[in-house]
Amino acid sequence: MARVTLDRVNKIYGYGPSAVHAVEDLSLEIEDGEFAAILGPSGCGKTSTLRMIVGLEEITSGTVAFDGEPMNARAPEQRNVAMAFESYALYPNFNVAQNLAFPLEVKGVDASERQRRVERIAGLLQIGELMGRRPRELSGGQQQRVSLGRALIREPAVFILDEVLSHLDAHLKFQMLFELKRIHQELERTMVYVTHDQMEALALADRVAVMSNARLQQFGDRDALYDRPANRFVADFIGEPPTNFLDATVVHDGGAPLLHVLGSDLRFAVDGERAAAIEAAQLDRVTLGIRPQNLTWNTDGDTAVVGATVDFNEYLGEHTILTLRDGGALFRAIVPPNVDAGEGARVELHYRTRNVMVFHPETDEFLG
Ligand SMILES: Nc1ncnc2c1ncn2[C@@H]1O[C@H](COP(=O)(O)OP(=O)(O)OP(=O)(O)O)[C@@H](O)[C@H]1O
Ligand SMILES: [Mg+2]
Repeated sequence: MARVTLDRVNKIYGYGPSAVHAVEDLSLEIEDGEFAAILGPSGCGKTSTLRMIVGLEEITSGTVAFDGEPMNARAPEQRNVAMAFESYALYPNFNVAQNLAFPLEVKGVDASERQRRVERIAGLLQIGELMGRRPRELSGGQQQRVSLGRALIREPAVFILDEVLSHLDAHLKFQMLFELKRIHQELERTMVYVTHDQMEALALADRVAVMSNARLQQFGDRDALYDRPANRFVADFIGEPPTNFLDATVVHDGGAPLLHVLGSDLRFAVDGERAAAIEAAQLDRVTLGIRPQNLTWNTDGDTAVVGATVDFNEYLGEHTILTLRDGGALFRAIVPPNVDAGEGARVELHYRTRNVMVFHPETDEFLG
């Protein structure tokens, strides 16, 4: 078992003008037994981070520690950590059972114990019927499961999983997410799961570290990422469809400030907390953020209202996504599937004032 701490970790590839700063001042503390995810767009530094935790990549500066003990100078095999990659890296001349057993053989685990653990992992990953096949006789998804099994079988203190479900079809992926969660509960090991898929990260992890451009943006649970995103990037990256962002001026109408969306007649009210944050920042312009899920068709009493014209009506079976326009402002709302909202119709959307997020117009920082 291990708590994984990264303290101001940097990774710079190469030298001089062609140097790439792949990870910048990353500090992160993953609790013992926690399931953490690292989420971010392609190229943001996820794999580089993992490879430094595992020991496959030199740490340019900063410290990686397990249970407070620095690992920087230790080789991968001295770190009690296992990693599974997106690419399978299976031994081509071994069959599946041999591929699974190999890490145990290296560790000197005796044959009957090897047999027991191979069977257990095969059961967990549903690959029992593939035991006699060579890697080239497996589909991409099957190879991915074997590769995952080979990491899991070692039962190390820390598991590092890099995009391990990317080659699975949607149905199998869903099943494997559930299995991974169960495996984590059963083994009670620290797991770090890397993905660019927010659904996977949010479904699996206790906490998600969101990265962008080599930097950590936020490390938090679902509620924090949804309701208190650190900045506009996180609010945009988490949630589907993404958050609506609208430029607004702050209008003081006697009492509480109203946010008047530029180029339109849209006015959003904010709650006391947001009003205080705007006041404290002394801004007369802000970026307003509201999630499409938080603009609703029906009122349940406690809501404010905005009116807009339907630009586009996307019926998706379980719900409908409306693209709405008022003047030059465009935004989206998720509404029930069969609402009467044809293109060109004038409609009213309801929202709770506490769901209106406010961002600094220049720094993109979350204000409240
Ligand atoms: N060995 C290397 N030499 C030079 N640059 C590298 C090397 N490995 C990665 N990079 C660069 O470092 C940055 C981060 O790469 P990294 O592989 O960590 O991203 P990632 O978040 O895992 O992306 P993806 O989601 O595409 O896997 C990228 O700009 C990449 O081009
Ligand atoms: Mg990667």
